[in-house]
Amino acid sequence: MKGMSQAEVNIPTVSLNDGSEMPVLGFGTWNLEGAECIRAVREAIEVGYRHIDTAAIYKNEEAVGQAVREAIAAGDVTREELFITSKVWNNQQGDQEVQQAFQASLKRLDMEFIDCMMVHWPWPQRGLYVESYEALAKIQGLGQLRSIAVANFYPEVLEEIIQATGIAPVLNQVELHPGFSQAQLRAVHKELGVMTEAWSPLGRGDLLGDPKIVSIADELEKTPAQVVLRWLVQLGCSAVPKSSQQQRQFENADIFNFELSDEQMQAITSMDDEGGRLFQSPFEFPGEVRQ
Ligand SMILES: NC(=O)c1ccc[n+]([C@@H]2O[C@H](COP(=O)([O-])OP(=O)(O)OC[C@H]3O[C@@H](n4cnc5c(N)ncnc54)[C@H](OP(=O)(O)O)[C@@H]3O)[C@@H](O)[C@H]2O)c1
Repeated sequence: MKGMSQAEVNIPTVSLNDGSEMPVLGFGTWNLEGAECIRAVREAIEVGYRHIDTAAIYKNEEAVGQAVREAIAAGDVTREELFITSKVWNNQQGDQEVQQAFQASLKRLDMEFIDCMMVHWPWPQRGLYVESYEALAKIQGLGQLRSIAVANFYPEVLEEIIQATGIAPVLNQVELHPGFSQAQLRAVHKELGVMTEAWSPLGRGDLLGDPKIVSIADELEKTPAQVVLRWLVQLGCSAVPKSSQQQRQFENADIFNFELSDEQMQAITSMDDEGGRLFQSPFEFPGEVRQ
């Protein structure tokens, strides 16, 4: 590993409700494109990440696929060891559209299968989330998609898709960090057997200077990012932190050799703020349908 003396991190897996195993910590790729994305994903695989999170809207599926092919060719990893997730964007909701979007993602990734595909947002104003999720379920039966999931779903729409299809998504990837810790949604997920996966788990980096987090990090001789990611794992969540820097990728993954006490967990959970979202609410995004 360039400029690093640390050994590769062994990231544990969690069992999902369809029997798949997923590394609990994944590598986020939003905002990484082209050569920078290829480099960062290859470095993340070197660090030990085996779960990579992309989406059609990130415009980096080709780069992620290229990095994976390079890593496999170099003997760093096999395809079977990886867990690749992607997402269908809002403008491709609907039965036929999702089928086309899935094939397009597969082609851009240049892979024989995708481990997990998500409906990226429910977009309640459009009213196609059940049909879109159902379309993923149909694709799953054909062998190119292993697990089906959603992102940014709230309890009502989550319950609706499960009732309509009889299939619980393996996970719901939602905004979740100390500033917005989603206790109610996590409880619903637990009841439904859906894994909670945190996006923007580091609050995009903004939370890392918070005095509570810094003080816990000092007590444990860990970094603020490690404390936040460890908090998420101890809450029972998966998380997909992003970093373009290999040293930070390593730091973020190296969280399986220490524990937060109940008091430390509670201190971080109590930072929750109703208005703490960094992005729009899924009740509102992307809003009214324009004709
Ligand atoms: N489903 C959805 O709707 C949705 C929405 C948003 C995001 N996501 C997924 O979630 C992933 C993560 O979210 P995110 O990228 O918004 O934010 P994040 O992972 O919370 O934070 C990333 C930011 O923190 C910095 N950072 C990373 N590690 C650090 C460390 N150890 N110390 C200090 N700073 C650090 C990064 O800078 P450097 O790169 O310079 O290190 C970057 O600016 C995305 O990449 C994407 O895969 C999904």
